[in-house]
Amino acid sequence: MKKRIAVFASGFGSNLQALIDYNRTGDLNGDIVLVFSNNKDAYALRRAEENKIKAVFMDPSEYDTREEYDSKIIELLEKEKIDLVVLAGYMFVLSPGFISRFKNRILNIHPSLLPSFKGAHGIKDAFDYGVKVTGVTVHFADEGLDSGPIILQEALNINQDESLEDLEEKIHKIEHKIYPLAVKYFCEDRLKIEGRKVKILDKNNKK
Ligand code: GRF
Repeated sequence: MKKRIAVFASGFGSNLQALIDYNRTGDLNGDIVLVFSNNKDAYALRRAEENKIKAVFMDPSEYDTREEYDSKIIELLEKEKIDLVVLAGYMFVLSPGFISRFKNRILNIHPSLLPSFKGAHGIKDAFDYGVKVTGVTVHFADEGLDSGPIILQEALNINQDESLEDLEEKIHKIEHKIYPLAVKYFCEDRLKIEGRKVKILDKNNKK
C-alpha cells in the first residue's frame, strides 16, 4: 500500500515542489496528502493548494507550550493516517513527544555534510568557514539537532571563486535530487536502521 506523506515546511517550499514533481513520475510510491506549516505566509502552502494537496497552517502563538502545539499536529496526522513526515525547511523544533510518536518516520534534509555545520545556516556556515567540500544530508530526525541516522549524502567542491549564491544554487539542486530518492526508499520499506547506520536495501531482495 502507498505510504501517506505529510510535508512540513515553513518557507519557500522548493523541496516540497521537487517531491511533487518527482511524484508525477509515479516512482515515489507514496502520496503527499498534507502540507503543514507554522507560518501562514509560507509559499509552500500555496504550492500545496496549486497542486490540490491539503494545506494546513496552525498558529504556534495560540498554544501555551510546544508540546500542546505538537499534540494538535499529532491529532491532525492521525486523522489523516500519515505514515511519514517529511521535514522540508520546517524551521520549528519538534517536541520530544512528537519525535517519539513518529519515531523513525520523520525525515529531514540539511544543507551540509552532517555532522558538520548543524543549525539554521548550514550553507553559509560552511562557506564562511572556508571548507573545500560541503554537501547535502538526508537523515532521520531524532531528539537532537540535525543528529539522527544518515540516509543519503552527496558532496560537492567549493571552488575558490564562487559566491555564496552560486553555492546555494548548487546545494539546492542536489537537495531536489536526493530528497525524493530518500523518500522513495522509505516508501518502499528499504531503509533499515541499525544503530546510527542506515542500510538501503536492494529493491527486489530487500536485504
Ligand atoms: C533547504 O535548504 C533545506 O536543506 C533546509 O531548509 C531549506 C528549505 O528550502 N532544511 P525550501 O523551503 O525547500 O526551498
